[in-house]
Order: sequence, then C-alpha cells, then structure tokens
Amino acid sequence: MAHIWRGIVNEYREYLIPEITGSVVTLGEGGYPLIDASSVANLLEEKMGARFGLQVYVKFEGRNPTGSFKDRGMTAAISAEKGKNTKAVVCASTGNTSASAAAYATAAGMQAVVLVPDGKIAMGKLAQAIAHGAKLLQVDGNFDDCLVLARDLAKQYPVGLVNSVNPHRIEGQKTASFEVVDELGVAPTIHALPVGNAGNITAYWKGYQEYNAAGKSSLPKMWGFQAQGAAPIVLGHKVDQPETIATAIRIGNPASWQQAESARDQSSGLISAVSDAQILAAHRILSSQVGVFVEPASAAGLAGLIEKAESGELKSALTGVQDAKIVITCTGHGLKDPKWALEDLDGKPKGPEVEPVKVPNSLAAVADLLDL
Ligand code: F0G
Repeated sequence: MAHIWRGIVNEYREYLIPEITGSVVTLGEGGYPLIDASSVANLLEEKMGARFGLQVYVKFEGRNPTGSFKDRGMTAAISAEKGKNTKAVVCASTGNTSASAAAYATAAGMQAVVLVPDGKIAMGKLAQAIAHGAKLLQVDGNFDDCLVLARDLAKQYPVGLVNSVNPHRIEGQKTASFEVVDELGVAPTIHALPVGNAGNITAYWKGYQEYNAAGKSSLPKMWGFQAQGAAPIVLGHKVDQPETIATAIRIGNPASWQQAESARDQSSGLISAVSDAQILAAHRILSSQVGVFVEPASAAGLAGLIEKAESGELKSALTGVQDAKIVITCTGHGLKDPKWALEDLDGKPKGPEVEPVKVPNSLAAVADLLDL
C-alpha cells in the first residue's frame, strides 16, 4: 500500500508523549534506508585478520532536511514548544543544532536565537542559520560557555530552550534506533557513533531499550567516540580548552555526560577517543569508498571502529556472534564543512588527486589527459 513518510513524530507517535504529538511541526525528517557499506566490512575484517561475514551499514543522517540528525530532535522539541504557544526559542550550538532550530522555528512561525562560539563553526552551518532567519549571536567563548548562556536566558526570559537538555530532543532522536531495527529486524551487534554533548548516544540507547521492552528488538553495544582534544568522558574530567578539527564535537563538558556513561555501561559498550588524523582518514574512506560525504565529526564512528579493529577489541566483541552487524551513524552532511575534502590537517591540499586540472576546450586534449 502506498505510504508517504510523515516525519518521525507522526510515524512513531505511539512511542512519544502527547506534549510532542499535539501540534506537529515537521519538515519530513527521517525515514530513509541504511546504506550497505561492504567496503567498510571488508576493511574491518582485513584489519581483524578474521572473516565473520560481517555486515556494516551507515545510517546517514546527512539526508535529513537540514543535513544532520538534529532534525529528529528538533521536530519534537519545536512541536512541544508550538503546543505551549512559545514565541521564541534559544539554543547553544557548534552549528548543526542552530541550523536545525532555525529551520524548524521558521516553519513554526517562531523566532530562533542561536548562540555559537565565534569563529568555530563551519561556514555551511552559519549560512543555514542566517538563511532561515535566526538571530545569530557569535559568543566570545566555546560551546560550553554558550550552553550556560542559553540555559540562563531560558530560565530568566520567556524563550524555550531547544538544546538536548530539553527532554523532547532526546525523544525525537531516539526514533533513529527504531528505524534501524525496523529495517534490520534486529538491533545491530554494535552501534558506533560520535559523542559531543552526548545527547545522541543517550537518545539511541533510549530508543533501543524502548523497542526491546516492547519486544521488538535485541540490544546493541553502544560504541561512542570523542575527538582526542575534546574527550572529557574518556579522560574522566572536563576539558577547559577543547580542540579538534571536528568542530561539531568540540565540547569539553557534555550536558548528557552521565546518561552517556549509563548507555556505555548498560550496553557493555565503550566510549573512546580518536585523533583528528584518524577522523580525516575515516572521512576519506567514507567519501571515496562508500560514496557518503560527511562532515569530520561524523567520521568519528568509523575512525573508532578502525582503531578497535586494529587493537583486537572489535574481534573480541564479535567473536561467537552469529550474523554480526554494525551500524555506524554518520551524523551530518559533508557539504556543511566541505574544505576537508580538499585540505589536510596542515591546511595544505590533500594531494595531486584534488588539484583542479585545467584543460583546453578540445576533445583530443581531454582524452589525452585521461590517457584514453
Ligand atoms: N556529529 C555532529 C555532526 C554534530 O553536530 C554533533 C553535535 C555530534 C555529532 C555529537 O552529538 O552532541 O548528541 O553527542 N552537535 C551539537 C550542535 C553540539 O550544536 O550542533 P551529541
């Protein structure tokens, strides 16, 4: 029977609370298939030196309307605010939350105010917030400072806070787990994803647990990865000056720290750190072998899996498992921060393959250059 996808709130309304489902504001987020990444499965098996018949899938959240997973949380949070007749919403952001808040607020007829660390968010995301009519305030501080400001503003003034400390955001984002299980028929053995403010790992784990309680799903191990220069959960203490090229996860004091630790511990999973070089290597594999162009933070899940394949931890986790499956969430689209396709960590061009080649307007010259 024909079915037009109605956005995650309408599709999963029986798993959501009435505050969210009363006045739905949607841009049609969610509802797209997993991408089979057999080249990644081969790579991981090669590094493990073992064949498991491993299946690897990418959940590419760059396919959402504003190009990141934030849209799942934002449709829920903005719908709830709409139900309360809120006129303005605020968020702190490393860029994607602000792009999403701006788009959904506009669709709801609300004003969005976004607080971002000055000079530390990718140009595509900045442009999105402006395009959607947000009041963009660039703060002389990092994301953690912006979040304190946003929380205080929402406490003292009539504006709704739509960061993931707003529980409706987590409710919306948990639907990504439902989609994974609806498609695979089971939860994967391992679900790998980046960790920044730690809302998403919290949301995925909540989703898997709820589907499990409803008898629809097994439970995965949650494997979260932070950037080495911004890895407070791995280090066990706040990081005052977080640094990474993966600006989306440049966060030193995650709001959902404890929930992320619970997701890790309850799922017998792990939270580990990857370097910027590992992130960029995984970024390149995703674009040049799988066909998925992501922003740097989104490659942290694959970067971590490669490291764990090399260290032997992945092999231990998969040994004895029948039909082992891994799902990697790639959280945001590469077009938001495209320079990493062209540049290396030192800002130099990646190599001859990304140098533009000029050619005369002549078929013979083109064929000659292609060695045809
Ligand atoms: N990947 C991307 C592309 C992100 O934008 C974020 C977070 C994460 C991963 C980490 O997710 O915070 O739930 O652990 N971005 C937030 C923002 C902080 O403001 O857009 P998390």
